[in-house]
Amino acid sequence: MERTFLMVKPDGVQRGLIGRIVSRFEDKGFKLIAGKMVQVSDAQAKKHYAEHDGKPFFDELVRFITSGPVFAMVWEGDDVVALSRLVIGKTKVTEALPGTIRGDFAAHTPFNLIHGSDGAESAEREIANFFESHELLGYTKAISAWI
Ligand code: TYD
Ligand code: MG
Repeated sequence: MERTFLMVKPDGVQRGLIGRIVSRFEDKGFKLIAGKMVQVSDAQAKKHYAEHDGKPFFDELVRFITSGPVFAMVWEGDDVVALSRLVIGKTKVTEALPGTIRGDFAAHTPFNLIHGSDGAESAEREIANFFESHELLGYTKAISAWI
């Protein structure tokens, strides 16, 4: 069982896509164990995107992610890190296939609607940047034996 950090970015919140984005992961059968609206601070954004510090798109990325509220979530499931990135689609909107969230809804990079952790270690670090451990709820999902 794995955990991942997913975040509807400011463009997704402003466009009213939180519900439809969350539905994709519910439909897949993953378990939502935490979720909240967050106004990301400059320091929190730089920590979240630390791996991209120094790249040409870094400043614009930090400006974008702090430009309005996001919807931050933690999801649980078998292989949820890799599978949720398949549901999300490729980073560049010109490469994101129809059927993925970015492929269906995003038309301009970096306005690609949603963030998903790229590995188990980054998931742990990103979750800790947004949530206290008591905010992550342990509960049983009745249907989980069937998916
Ligand atoms: P990255 O972690 O590579 O992509 P992903 O979100 O799929 O994990 O990059 C983080 C964000 O930075 C990405 O969602 C959009 C933005 N970005 C650009 O604007 N230009 C780029 O060339 C890249 C690689 C990313
Ligand atoms: Mg990434």
